[in-house]
Amino acid sequence: MAKIKMSPSLLACDFLHLEDEVRKAEKAGADMLHCDVMDGVYVPNISFGFDIISKIGSITELPLDVHMMTVCPEKYLEVLKEAGASYVTVHSDYSDPDTVRNTVLKIRELGMKAGVSLKPKRAAEDVFGLAEITDMILVMTVEPGFGGQKFMADMMPKVRKIREFVDSHGLDCDIQVDGGIGTSTISQAAEAGANVFVVGTGAFRAEDMQAALRDLKKAAKAAFPKDSSAKKQTMRKK
Ligand code: DX5
Ligand code: ZN
Repeated sequence: MAKIKMSPSLLACDFLHLEDEVRKAEKAGADMLHCDVMDGVYVPNISFGFDIISKIGSITELPLDVHMMTVCPEKYLEVLKEAGASYVTVHSDYSDPDTVRNTVLKIRELGMKAGVSLKPKRAAEDVFGLAEITDMILVMTVEPGFGGQKFMADMMPKVRKIREFVDSHGLDCDIQVDGGIGTSTISQAAEAGANVFVVGTGAFRAEDMQAALRDLKKAAKAAFPKDSSAKKQTMRKK
């Protein structure tokens, strides 16, 4: 079975106490830390940049899962590597397909894991050609740009299609969902085949983050399709 992982999104944290918030996520059992970079161009909001990510990287061993909601992410790959990013995810439509492909290859060349993200309007098929060179496919379950939005259940057929594609091709590729993930939505996403869960509001704004992550992980494990690991034996080595 694909490993179920929780990636709390710092966008929902209390930035006045950033170090405390990172420690809270560590103690709560986070598997990685989701860092949303927004430039006010690709999405209508601005978040934080590489100096902040570097500061976070300097105080934690948790893998940094950087979600680039920007134009020209290729300009910042070296800087992200330097800042300690483990995953860099770019959007499938930030540029033409060749540029996106080259960026994905460059991320890996630099020794980081590469993700490709689909906005709600993008089809599953957009990433099929990249799946073999991608470590993670991110299906947005809200329009990117803001935390605290309502989960789009109509994205589940897309998650299912990508899970089928990944498993039937024996690919070692995580499927991540981002936006509106909480106790009432995580089971649907896991049942459709997602195994990495970004949780902003549901983690950092929970009364007890440790209990919240534990319950969410438990629900995801229970709902994730049991037969999805059948192809594990044939997984291609990258
Ligand atoms: C939205 C960001 C998300 C956001 C999720 O564009 O990509 O990572 O932090 O926040 P919640 O979990 O509150 O929907
Ligand atoms: Zn995100």
